[in-house]
Amino acid sequence: ETVRILGAPMDYGADRRGVDMGPSAIRYAGLADRLEDAGVTTIDDGDLSIPRAEERDPDAEQPADGHAKFLREVEDVCTRLGERVESALENGEFPLVLGGDHSVAIGSMRGSARDADLGAIWFDAHADLNTPATSPSGNVHGMPLAATLGRGAFGDVDWAHAPRVREESIVYVGLRSIDDRERELVRESEMTAFTMADIDEYGMTAVVEDALDVATSGTDGVHVSLDLDWLDPKTAPGVGTPVRGGVTYREAHAALETVATRHGREGVVRSMDVVEVNPILDERNETARLAAELTASAFGNRIL
Ligand code: ARG
Ligand code: MN
Ligand code: MN
Ligand code: MN
Repeated sequence: ETVRILGAPMDYGADRRGVDMGPSAIRYAGLADRLEDAGVTTIDDGDLSIPRAEERDPDAEQPADGHAKFLREVEDVCTRLGERVESALENGEFPLVLGGDHSVAIGSMRGSARDADLGAIWFDAHADLNTPATSPSGNVHGMPLAATLGRGAFGDVDWAHAPRVREESIVYVGLRSIDDRERELVRESEMTAFTMADIDEYGMTAVVEDALDVATSGTDGVHVSLDLDWLDPKTAPGVGTPVRGGVTYREAHAALETVATRHGREGVVRSMDVVEVNPILDERNETARLAAELTASAFGNRIL
């Protein structure tokens, strides 16, 4: 399998600057070597060029109802990223997107869903289902699933939302921080939500097996979105929105190894993004190293 690495050093969607350095930090942590260990060939596309946030006005264009900072800028990056993802797939390669904040997933999923009915597994502490009207922060990294599903009003920005991603094919794993108005959206949606409490009760491997069953049912493939704040902040300190009570180091590996097993057997995974690594907040690049290791696990790297 050939993996095409696509850097998306974007921090428009998050409040804490520094997440734009995520792609460099993950590469520096040895991503390509770890992937080669897993038996994968890598091609690195480099980074999309993205204007610095300081050169832009976050509120230049806003929806009539609500707040979504740097909306145009996020749209522009996601459009370009989606095209790269799509062309990697057309070449028979596996697109691996390095964020950047989680709004890059709008681009990853749009590209991945262009020619396929797409399921998704969302490894995250957060639901990322806010709309500009419900968001408490105005940060687009809390909105990528709404944008992908065409929910909510984003003003003039039409995400060309991915019509081939259906709610019932999206599965959360590890949820533990949901905003009040967002909770209703999650409850009323047709998405499947495995919270941390479900992981406590059933164990990570069983939860991820179920998640894969849901995301593969009636779809052509699955997008894996890995937000590093999914892990406990003691294990992954380099993230902008840490939430305690997260996944452990071993649980995280078990989850991605389960993904790899099914991928190896059935080729069910089409695309992946690894997001929210913020080297400024990190300790000695630990979180980036973890991101590289977990990605290798997702491609079948094993202890023996
Ligand atoms: N729910 C909060 C918000 O919408 C936090 C979202 C955090 N998202 C993330 N991808 N880290 O502002
Ligand atoms: Mn997220
Ligand atoms: Mn998150
Ligand atoms: Mn703010």
